[in-house]
Amino acid sequence: MSSSLVSASPGEPSETRLWAALMRLAEFVEPGQAGWTRRVFSCAYMESRALVRTMMEEAGLAVTQDPVGNLIGRLGGRDPALPPLVVGSHTDTVSGGGRFDGMVGVVAAIEVARTLATSSISLRRPLWIVDFLGEEPNRFGLSCLGSRAVTGHLTEQHMDLIDDAGLSLGEELRRAGWRPDDLGSARWQGGSLHAYLELHIEQGAQLERAGRQIGIVTAIAGISRARIDIEGRADHAGTTPMELRLDALQAAAEIVLATDAIGRDQEGGEEGVATVGRLLVEPNVTNVIPARAQLGVELRSIAPRWLEQRSRDLELLVDRVARERRLVLTLEWLSTEPPVRCDGRLRRAMGRAASQVGADPFELPSGASHDAAHIARIAPMGMLFIPSRGGRSHCPEEWSEPAEVALGARSLLQTVLDVDAAQL
Ligand code: GLV
Ligand code: MN
Ligand code: MN
Repeated sequence: MSSSLVSASPGEPSETRLWAALMRLAEFVEPGQAGWTRRVFSCAYMESRALVRTMMEEAGLAVTQDPVGNLIGRLGGRDPALPPLVVGSHTDTVSGGGRFDGMVGVVAAIEVARTLATSSISLRRPLWIVDFLGEEPNRFGLSCLGSRAVTGHLTEQHMDLIDDAGLSLGEELRRAGWRPDDLGSARWQGGSLHAYLELHIEQGAQLERAGRQIGIVTAIAGISRARIDIEGRADHAGTTPMELRLDALQAAAEIVLATDAIGRDQEGGEEGVATVGRLLVEPNVTNVIPARAQLGVELRSIAPRWLEQRSRDLELLVDRVARERRLVLTLEWLSTEPPVRCDGRLRRAMGRAASQVGADPFELPSGASHDAAHIARIAPMGMLFIPSRGGRSHCPEEWSEPAEVALGARSLLQTVLDVDAAQL
């Protein structure tokens, strides 16, 4: 890969325009929800994507939407036969989320394309800017819908996943106007992309603590997500003696605490995290012994062995609690994504690019997952981070400074120029 950047200057991404775009997107929120909530398939999300499309068009991109709702803006290169360089992220949020997770990557990628489209420089190869459908876990229990689809990992079986109201993912995609029966046409073949790049907020506090502005991601943590269902028995809370109860919530409480202990187990020097982020209780009435509980659990680590061992620990825990409490517990793994390493040549290119724009880059792993982890199955993948104030993310307080967003976009532009010239 060439370390020298093209001699002519393409101009600079505009901090003002980047910030205005982020704030315009932040106007699309679900009424009555906390923070900046814009979940995939919500009206706010569907409406906001018309804005993303307009932003892409105004930047000079030719925009299409694929059968699963990925928005793709294309800029031609000098040699249209070369595999494209792809830059993307997402614009959906978690419930009660912020204004930066995902959006920074999409808005910056569009700004990079605009900077190129309005300069005298054209890339050798086509540049694709992608707003991937639904990166966050949704009510069907599946994250990264769009990036799974383009790598062939959104399957017909996934279309049968149902939400609490009994609606299937396939029906929801169809309702949104897309074509779940045509998953094959959304697919990008392995080797058909030159490289994939994504700029994202760090969502942790390592950059802030180190006083650095640009992070180069070394690896993305793997995630194993499970649903645990607990079947107890509803009884009168005043008349049922303690030793006769089949209390589903007591079992859930034991699992919540033991999962935390599983996450703290760093035996072997390998680290990870474990979370119970979701708990449903039925009938959820003060004077009735809980009959049923459902937990959403996830384990994350960049060490495959840690994930394997802790997954087994969780299964053993569920068996033990079922036995000891005489309840029916079932654990279903909803997804198991392995950790992914970022491409070494892209990391070096991003390091050069960050230095080029005056930043002192810092290498770090990502505990959060990203569309990039899926695209890595079919292309060399690299990620850049900008700082998150206080390390806060997936909450309304999520924040990155306008100058940090702009520096991220400038680093991304320099990386695009470097990688376009390279033989990967
Ligand atoms: C995505 O934001 C995730 O890491 O859960
Ligand atoms: Mn997120
Ligand atoms: Mn994200």
